[in-house]
Amino acid sequence: MEVSFSEKSVLITGAGGSIGRVLVNSLIKNGATVYAVDSNDESLQDLRAGIGADGKLQTILSDLQSDAECENVVKNIPKLHGLVHLAGIFEPDEMIAGDTEEVFDPVLQANLRNIYSLFIACRPLLLRCDCSRVILTSSIAFNRGGYSHTAYSAAKGGVVGFMRSLARREAPKILVNAVAPGILDSPMPANMIAKRGIENVLAQIPLGRLGRASEISGVIEFLLGPNASYVTGQLINADGGMSNN
Ligand SMILES: NC(=O)c1ccc[n+]([C@@H]2O[C@H](COP(=O)([O-])OP(=O)(O)OC[C@H]3O[C@@H](n4cnc5c(N)ncnc54)[C@H](O)[C@@H]3O)[C@@H](O)[C@H]2O)c1
Repeated sequence: MEVSFSEKSVLITGAGGSIGRVLVNSLIKNGATVYAVDSNDESLQDLRAGIGADGKLQTILSDLQSDAECENVVKNIPKLHGLVHLAGIFEPDEMIAGDTEEVFDPVLQANLRNIYSLFIACRPLLLRCDCSRVILTSSIAFNRGGYSHTAYSAAKGGVVGFMRSLARREAPKILVNAVAPGILDSPMPANMIAKRGIENVLAQIPLGRLGRASEISGVIEFLLGPNASYVTGQLINADGGMSNN
């Protein structure tokens, strides 16, 4: 059953990425107004070209790197039903000198630090709606420990702690949850899959296949919708059973 998001506004970070594009399209189809934030202008242009100018999509170019930048992102938004943080980077580390600055800091910034700043900026707008929602993105890399991705695994674990704390702090007005995707058929894990070999990767997934972006955006839409009105502080694993394996 499709849920109507008519009269609802949702801000999505990383909106030009694989999951973001599917989510933006589906929410707009179901009546939402979407504020799509991304640091990549080309992906925002593609998003606009795909949707057309019907006024339901507003794109905002930003890397969300400071409190001031996040305030700037939301300055023309009157209210928000939802905040979805998909923006992130997946960089391998070798745990050698230099990786702290070159990998750990940027990975923690993009996946975790930015949502702290952005939530501060969005909170007053979320409080203008009843039962508003925050949905964050963790990863199978948190649940299992990502092979060669220690900084990323730490960032995605930080997202879960952040989500659980925020859910308690903001109840009952704002519901806060996270989704942990497994390995998707998408560009982000492509290098890791090529390095480890697709057969080895698939052998770790009980459902025997990579996930689809729509299988993550569907979970996020559920968490944004009326059927999730009694769900907060939860991490939903959408990983083909991988975290149980
Ligand atoms: N694709 C997967 O297999 C997979 C698996 C587990 C978790 N995830 C998580 O899901 C989320 C979305 O993944 P995806 O596959 O759509 O990735 P993607 O790389 O296709 O999209 C991520 C988007 O975030 C944007 N971005 C990066 N840093 C940013 C910043 N500082 N400010 C604003 N935008 C920024 C990028 O430009 C990109 O458009 C990520 O948080 C990722 O870690 C993905």
